[in-house]
Amino acid sequence: MTARATRLITWLDERVGLLSIWNAIFDRRIPKVNWWFTLGSASLFLSVMQAATGVFLTIYYIPTPEEAYTSIEYIMNDVAFGWLVRGMHHWGATLMVVIVFVHMLRVFYYGAYKYPREVTWLTGVFLLLVTMGLGFTGYLLPWNQRSYWATAVGSSIVATIPLVGDFFLRVVRGGDELTLLTLSRFYGVHIWFLPASLFGLIGTHLYLVVRNGISHVPKRNE
Ligand code: HEM
Repeated sequence: MTARATRLITWLDERVGLLSIWNAIFDRRIPKVNWWFTLGSASLFLSVMQAATGVFLTIYYIPTPEEAYTSIEYIMNDVAFGWLVRGMHHWGATLMVVIVFVHMLRVFYYGAYKYPREVTWLTGVFLLLVTMGLGFTGYLLPWNQRSYWATAVGSSIVATIPLVGDFFLRVVRGGDELTLLTLSRFYGVHIWFLPASLFGLIGTHLYLVVRNGISHVPKRNE
C-alpha cells in the first residue's frame, strides 16, 4: 500500500472508526467449519445479485397488462445483454429459494438455532418468508398464461382463511379478479416493500451473526 493510501485510511479511521468495523467483521475467530457453512454467504450473494439485476430490469420492464409481456420480450431479444440480466434474475430467484432453504436446514441440523442464536433464527424465518414473497410476486410480472394462472390459483388460497379470507383476497388482488391493479400491486411489493424488508432483515441477521459468532459443528454428546 502506498504511503498516500495509508495516510488516507488513517485519516478516515480516526474520524469514522473504519478499522474497528473491518476487524469486527473480517478479523474474527471462527471454529472449524465445513462447506455447509458457506450457504449463508451464498444467500447474501444471491440477494445482492437479485437486487442488482432487478434494478436494471426496471429500466425496460413496463408493469401494465398491455406492455408487461412485450417489454420482457424486448428485454430478451433487443436490449444489449438483456437476455443475460433477465436470465440471471430468473434463475437466481429459483436458486435463492433453494439455497436459503438449505441454509436453514443446515442451521437446524446442527442445532445452531439454540441459545444464544434464537433471535438470529427468528430473523431468518422472516428472511425465508420475504424470499418466498419475492418469488411469488415476481412470478406474476411477465404476465404470461403461466404466471397469470399460477397467481390466480396461488392468491385464491388466501380466500380459505376463515372469516377474513374474502377480504384479504381482495387486498391481494386489488379486486375480485387479476387486473392492472393486481399487477401494479405485485410490482410495488416486489420492487419496494419486500427488498427493503429483505435488506433490513439481512442487516440485523448479519449483525447478530457477527455479535454471537458462528457456532461450531456439534459433537455427538453435545
Ligand atoms: C436471505 C436469506 C439469508 C441470508 C442472506 C443469511 C445469511 C447468513 C450468513 C452470512 C450467516 C453466517 C454464515 C453461515 O452460517 O452460513 C448466517 C447464519 C445464520 N443464519 Fe442465515 N441467512 C439467511 C436466511 C436464514 C434463514 C431462513 C434462517 C433460519 C430460519 C437463518 C438462520 C441463521 C442462523 C441461526 C445463523 C447462525 C448459524 C451459526 O452460528 O452457525 N438464516 N446467515
